[in-house]
Amino acid sequence: MDLYEYQARDIFEAHGVPVLRGTVASSPAEARAVAAEIGGPVVVKAQVKIGGRGKAGGIRVAETPEDAYRAAEAILGLDIRGHRAEKVMIVECVDIDEEYYFSLLLDRTSRSYLAMFSVEGGVDIEHLAADRPEAIARVEVDPLGELDAETLVAALPEDVRLKVIPVLRQLLDVYRAEDATLVEVNPLVLTVGGDVLALDGKITLDDNAAFRLDNRAELADAAGHHDPVEKRAREHGLKYVTLDGSVGIIGNGAGLVMSTLDVVTAAGERHGGQRPANFLDIGGGASPETMTAALEIVLSDEQVRSVFVNVFGGITSCDAVATGIVEALTRLDEASRPIVVRLDGNSVEEGRAILEDFDHPLVTVVADMDEAADLVTELAGRN
Ligand SMILES: Nc1ncnc2c1ncn2[C@@H]1O[C@H](COP(=O)(O)OP(=O)(O)OP(=O)(O)O)[C@@H](O)[C@H]1O
Ligand SMILES: [Mg+2]
Repeated sequence: MDLYEYQARDIFEAHGVPVLRGTVASSPAEARAVAAEIGGPVVVKAQVKIGGRGKAGGIRVAETPEDAYRAAEAILGLDIRGHRAEKVMIVECVDIDEEYYFSLLLDRTSRSYLAMFSVEGGVDIEHLAADRPEAIARVEVDPLGELDAETLVAALPEDVRLKVIPVLRQLLDVYRAEDATLVEVNPLVLTVGGDVLALDGKITLDDNAAFRLDNRAELADAAGHHDPVEKRAREHGLKYVTLDGSVGIIGNGAGLVMSTLDVVTAAGERHGGQRPANFLDIGGGASPETMTAALEIVLSDEQVRSVFVNVFGGITSCDAVATGIVEALTRLDEASRPIVVRLDGNSVEEGRAILEDFDHPLVTVVADMDEAADLVTELAGRN
């Protein structure tokens, strides 16, 4: 999950990283009020999760609160490379002496973190990385060890080095404490007054660690990670991703669900280009309740024209899956879309018997995966 700059600023502040005072605003009037409170010149910054805001007109200096009003008016609603600015952040304007670049990221190849620093930070870091990669110092960071900050900032004069190093250490603390996969500060500035500040921050959090941090749900909501269906799926412990097709997919195990997406896509070509509407993995050992929730979630998506339940029972037993389907259809008044079920493996006979007894007009049990894919895409094309 990528955070907005203002969220990164708040996190930096909470961990003691020096930042400027800043507050987010969603309207020009709010921006004016914040600017008046800060007093003096401010910078109004578009909050979008894409770089190059400055060059796109998304960062403006405002001398007075009235200027801040107008700057926010110009920026709010602005389209920055496909991202609409819904919010701005108002921060104090500072006199900058030098701009540095710092980032810390997860380097899967070396199985460690990678820290990068350059004395030539600022808005053209991408060009610098491409044209003169040697101008960016790199050190590996042992996930459990210390940061060799001295090597990283060797290009700085000693007095500045002494100010920058503690900030880099604090940024490593942020990275670890928040379970990030990226912490980037560009620019990290040295002000004319001699202070070192994180002026612009970017944080990517590792979603796999969400369960162990209390602040994650709030951050995710504010970061716009609130597809309501995906949220409900998460609450039930289901792995769900919305896609844009018409065939709802439910399976157990990521591998089986992935191959189900493939067979449905292939079969769908014979039926007017039907494609999967989602990825949903009920996981191993799913209970009837999990299966019911899965079906309700998929059917709550209006683009779904038919549903394919593809379960190969291992730890998950087919009778639990069948019971979950019966429960969902009994409870949902408006299921109204056909469901093709392919069961195999653990307790397959019991599972099929439950569905046979239920004898619901919308449910068809098909033994073979390819035949099931063919039928479910045909039904989606017909509906
Ligand atoms: N509060 C501030 N005071 C003075 N100058 C600022 C301030 N904020 C930004 N700037 C100047 O504007 C430049 C761009 O700002 P910033 O890095 O926040 O955005 P950006 O680089 O355009 O956006 P992105 O990082 O998304 O590409 C900075 O390098 C700095 O020179
Ligand atoms: Mg920047």
